[in-house]
Amino acid sequence: MHERRSRQGRHIRRGFPVLATEAREGFGSGVFYGRLHPRLTALVGALPPGRGRRAFVFATSGLPEIPPAPYTRPVVRLLEGKGFTVDGSFSCRAFDTWAPFKLLGGLNKQRPNAGDLSAAREFAERQRDGRGPLA
Ligand SMILES: Cc1cc2nc3c(=O)[nH]c(=O)nc-3n(C[C@H](O)[C@H](O)[C@H](O)COP(=O)(O)O)c2cc1C
Repeated sequence: MHERRSRQGRHIRRGFPVLATEAREGFGSGVFYGRLHPRLTALVGALPPGRGRRAFVFATSGLPEIPPAPYTRPVVRLLEGKGFTVDGSFSCRAFDTWAPFKLLGGLNKQRPNAGDLSAAREFAERQRDGRGPLA
């Protein structure tokens, strides 16, 4: 099968661009009622087996997560169940308009802030460079 690397770093196979095997695929959404969005979860659930593929998961939430039970964990488990290697998760706070907070004008009006964006950039760069998540 003909395969070559394009200038964008993707492989071209029989004229179709496909993700290089070393690429990372990211899956993420806001948190709704304690979980990532059901449509994202359904999409991941419908993926074909991902053996040999690498992924990361990210989330934004109104409330901070409790470390032993990160919001991203169910989707991480789903991906791992399909054979993906999950290299890490990222989450940060974001503007929350869930009903009780909406009455008060919303929670976290200033989030994501510069610190969140800088942490997201650091996470993305580590993924790009294959350095894995921060300890
Ligand atoms: C209906 C609803 C339910 C939510 N439930 C939660 C929740 O259970 N925990 C939490 O931390 N944030 C919750 N949030 C806040 C969202 O996670 C937050 O606003 C998120 O960043 C939205 O992402 P988006 O702007 O990409 O949709 C909820 C927000 C809405 C509107």
